[in-house]
Amino acid sequence: MAKMEVKMSLLDDMIGVGDMVLLEPLNEDSFINNLKKRFDHNEVYTYIGSVVISINPYRSLPIYTPEKVEEYRNRNFYELSPHIFALSDEAYRSLRDQDKDQCILITGESGAGKTEASKLVMSYVAAVCGKGAEVNQVKEQLLQSNPVLEAFGNAKTVRNDNSSRFGKYMDIEFDFKGDPLGGVISNYLLEKSRVVKQPRGERNFHIFYQILSGASEDFLCKLKLERDFSRYNYLGLDSAKVNGVDDAANFRTVRNAMQIVGFMDHETQSVFEVVAAVLKLGNIEFKPESRVNGLDESKIKDKNELKEICELTGIDQSVLERAFSFRTVEAKQEKVSTTLNVAQAYYARDALAKNLYSRLFSWLVTRINESIKAQTKVRKKVMGVLDIYGFEIFEDNSFEQFIINYCNEKLQQIFIELTLKEEQEEYIREGIEWTHIEYFNNAIICDLIENNQTGILAMLDEECLRPGTVTDDTFLEKLNQVCATHQHFESRMSKCSRFLNDTSLPHSCFRIQHYAGKVMYQVEGFVDKNNDLLYRDLSQAMWKASHSLIKALFPEGNPAKINLKRPPTAGSQFKASVATLMKNLQTKNPNYIRCIKPNDKKAAHIFNDALVCHQIRYLGLLENVRVRRAGYAFRQAYEPCLERYKMLCKQTWPHWRGPARAGVEVLFNELEIPEEEFSFGRSKIFIRNPRTLFKLEDLRKQRLEDLATLIEKIYRGWKCRTRFLLMKKSQIVIASWYRRYAQQKKYQKIKSSAIIVQSYIRGWKARKLLRELKHQKRCNEAATIIAAYWHGTQARRELKRLKEEARRKHAVAVIWAYWLGLKVRREYRKFFRANAGRKIYEFTLQRLMQKYFLEMKNKMPSLSPIDKNWPARPYLFLDSTHKELKRIFHLWRCKKYRDQFTDQQKLIYEEKLEASELFKDKKALYPASVGQPFQGAYLEISKNPKYKKLKDAVDEKIIIAEVVNKINRANGKATSRIFLLTKNNVLLADQKSGNIKSEVPLGDVTKVSMSSQNDGFFAVHLKEGSEAAGKGDFLLSSDHLIEMATKLYRTTLSQTKQKLNIEISDEFLVQFRQDKVCVKFIQGSQKNGNIPTCKRKNNRLLEVAVP
Ligand SMILES: Nc1ncnc2c1ncn2[C@@H]1O[C@H](COP(=O)(O)OP(=O)(O)OP(=O)(O)O)[C@@H](O)[C@H]1O
Ligand SMILES: [Mg+2]
Repeated sequence: MAKMEVKMSLLDDMIGVGDMVLLEPLNEDSFINNLKKRFDHNEVYTYIGSVVISINPYRSLPIYTPEKVEEYRNRNFYELSPHIFALSDEAYRSLRDQDKDQCILITGESGAGKTEASKLVMSYVAAVCGKGAEVNQVKEQLLQSNPVLEAFGNAKTVRNDNSSRFGKYMDIEFDFKGDPLGGVISNYLLEKSRVVKQPRGERNFHIFYQILSGASEDFLCKLKLERDFSRYNYLGLDSAKVNGVDDAANFRTVRNAMQIVGFMDHETQSVFEVVAAVLKLGNIEFKPESRVNGLDESKIKDKNELKEICELTGIDQSVLERAFSFRTVEAKQEKVSTTLNVAQAYYARDALAKNLYSRLFSWLVTRINESIKAQTKVRKKVMGVLDIYGFEIFEDNSFEQFIINYCNEKLQQIFIELTLKEEQEEYIREGIEWTHIEYFNNAIICDLIENNQTGILAMLDEECLRPGTVTDDTFLEKLNQVCATHQHFESRMSKCSRFLNDTSLPHSCFRIQHYAGKVMYQVEGFVDKNNDLLYRDLSQAMWKASHSLIKALFPEGNPAKINLKRPPTAGSQFKASVATLMKNLQTKNPNYIRCIKPNDKKAAHIFNDALVCHQIRYLGLLENVRVRRAGYAFRQAYEPCLERYKMLCKQTWPHWRGPARAGVEVLFNELEIPEEEFSFGRSKIFIRNPRTLFKLEDLRKQRLEDLATLIEKIYRGWKCRTRFLLMKKSQIVIASWYRRYAQQKKYQKIKSSAIIVQSYIRGWKARKLLRELKHQKRCNEAATIIAAYWHGTQARRELKRLKEEARRKHAVAVIWAYWLGLKVRREYRKFFRANAGRKIYEFTLQRLMQKYFLEMKNKMPSLSPIDKNWPARPYLFLDSTHKELKRIFHLWRCKKYRDQFTDQQKLIYEEKLEASELFKDKKALYPASVGQPFQGAYLEISKNPKYKKLKDAVDEKIIIAEVVNKINRANGKATSRIFLLTKNNVLLADQKSGNIKSEVPLGDVTKVSMSSQNDGFFAVHLKEGSEAAGKGDFLLSSDHLIEMATKLYRTTLSQTKQKLNIEISDEFLVQFRQDKVCVKFIQGSQKNGNIPTCKRKNNRLLEVAVP
């Protein structure tokens, strides 16, 4: 109960009653008084159940501070004094925790504070939802979209200095945690007529004034604008300044907001260029000009402005000028161009300005949406905030007011549907006892406007589309016919006689009894505004602009995409978008803020009872309280109710088996909730008082806390137990390991101790044994040594004795021998002395000789004559014998060797011997010839047929047949010749033909000369005066010089019995015919390799170079 008291704070210190449901007595006066009382005490918010009534304080109150936000955060709705924050918190938490999409419907007439309320809701949600860099950026962008849209879509009206001239519905999207993801803004019909004309006391849209006041000179110059408001026809002058509003500061705010929302610099620039162009369009003026054919034509008065517009927008001036002067109508491939008169030209200009501005506004909304749209595709929860233009009654109400008020009718309708009608119908449906409460249902007014056949909008559309002349008057006529009998329609011309004499109602007007009061509409302009026509020439001119934004705003101006179909009318478009909005709102959980305006003067502290009373009436607030009081504050289907509160009762917790309703009954009985506090419907439980619900919620919260504690307790217990068990298990493992370790250590210690003790004992025993053994060994050794000494002594004694004995025996023998020798010498002295010495000497010599020969017999070398081995001489006295023996042996073995020869071999050896005698150690060529066998007939003449003639000519035996080089006497060059030696002759023959060139008998050969060197040159000297000597001596060269010379020598000796003179000298004379030429051999020239060369030096000298 203590808790309940804390929560009663709504009732604590209450000024009047915070919740009208508690008002007693309930009537209009008490209702207004309660509001007034609270208003006077700065309590601007009051509840009707969950609906918030907000009275505009027209001054800033200190109730929106961050502290207040914190105060209302996560608190129950009725816990604190009524506040818009409480409603916002409730909606946000319901969205976040119960996953219900929300919408916040803010209604009230113009200036009642809807826009402010919507901003408060948004800022509260932004303050309480998630945080973080990304989330904050999303929040900031969502919040900063407001100043941008307000600058372009709000204007000062007589009712409100910041009146929204467009409808706005914003969906803020959240993720499952309740963090904002982004948003989507929908805008509804901007009151664009304001661009070109404003009622007295009102202003155009804020942005125009903001640019002119806030932009720098430079920027203005770029936009070709001047700061002076009065320069622009479109700006109403009488209220250009609004009290308390700093347009210049607001301009900076807007630019900053555009930047935060994500507008690029060039985009911002383009937007302001369009705004400037609109403003300047108003300054284009036309003057009439009559044409010859009588048609009226208009002409632009001053083209300067037009030129500047064209420069700003990049449109060809002539194109725009023509678009203001002509109108082309295209129908069935026909183009008809008509001139525009002054009025039409002005109409075209204004239409263009309005269209430019309204399209720019829609583009801004699309662009903002692009920036703030959620970047993820996860499921989103949505909170919609609806801030639409409020119900308004002006002096002159036109199409726009009609549309605005229709929209408000629809909102009232949805309020009635969802709170009054739906609620009462639900009680009946659920079978709850109920007495019906009367209230005014404005469905009939909605029907008057939107009925598809007989509704005013349908009439207007029909009239606009009808062929023939259509004017506002024909439209009114039609209305008068169709709607005359409607309760809420009033017109002077209608068939209903009621208003025939009502002078307050002009003929050109009709009046509608709206839920919020009667409004008289001027029919003038309805048709035009509904048609919303822009001449095609103008849209095409705009499309031709090089300004990309303007081009994009007029896609229909593209000639390639020409569409002859009429675009939907403004009325039908609006109707359709309102219908979509209503459908959207119905899918969400509604939260209402009903704004009330305390006075018409926009002043603080003034509470106009009559004005408030009027609003209370048309808003149906009293009925609202009545339904609320008679009804139940809260209802919920049994299943979710049981699911939510089942933990409060033992029977239903944790599971209830049975129907949900029975479960809820058990639950409520258990909780002892008084019976008058609830009712059981067919499918829902109805709870009368919010406090009962709060009590349930508190109990639930408490129980949840208990359950959480229980879960925590069990979890902690489980955790501790698990931990304990784990620790215990671990401890056992550790202990077992430790014990094992300790026992191991102990065992090892005992073991090592035992080993030490054992080793000591063993050591001691061993030492003892060792000692004994050593003693024993020493005893043994001592005995042995003693024995050895003893034996030694014995042996030495014996040895001494034996030596003594041997010496004696030897001495006896020596003495005996000496004595015997003495005896013999004495006896044989006379025979011995005469020849014993010589005999002994000879005998010894003989013995040695004998020994020498016997040894020599065994040491004889081989029988090869060339074996140089010979045993060494053993005795010096045998030196000559030894040499002689060697010579004899050599001769003997040579003989032996020779004896083996055949006759042929003998001849060869004789020749070789001859050669050796002749040349050995005389000619350097000789040693090389020793190994060569002497063949003689190298050239086999008999076998070669070429030499047959030669063979025939020589009939003797041929000793030598060989090719030699004959040296030419003239130049020393060689010519090949065959050299033949027979028994009697030496022949030289041509090598090729075999013809004998010279034949010399051996007797004519006197001498053969040659060098001592290693060459084959030789000269054959002939006997002077002989037949052959005529040609001179032969100088020849041969490879077998030694053999040839030897054979020549031997043959000459055997034939002539004279020794041939062989001269070996390095310089000899040769007789050439008459001359003697000296042949000189020089050694060492390597010019021609190893071949000796011969060169004639001069007449007397022939030089042979021998390598
Ligand atoms: N809670 C508030 N505290 C202080 N001043 C307020 C409050 N609500 C509204 N106002 C004042 O009232 C003026 C009008 O409020 P607001 O623009 O919200 O009206 P509205 O209902 O949106 O009107 P319209 O339908 O014309 O747009 C605001 O400019 C502000 O000066
Ligand atoms: Mg507003």
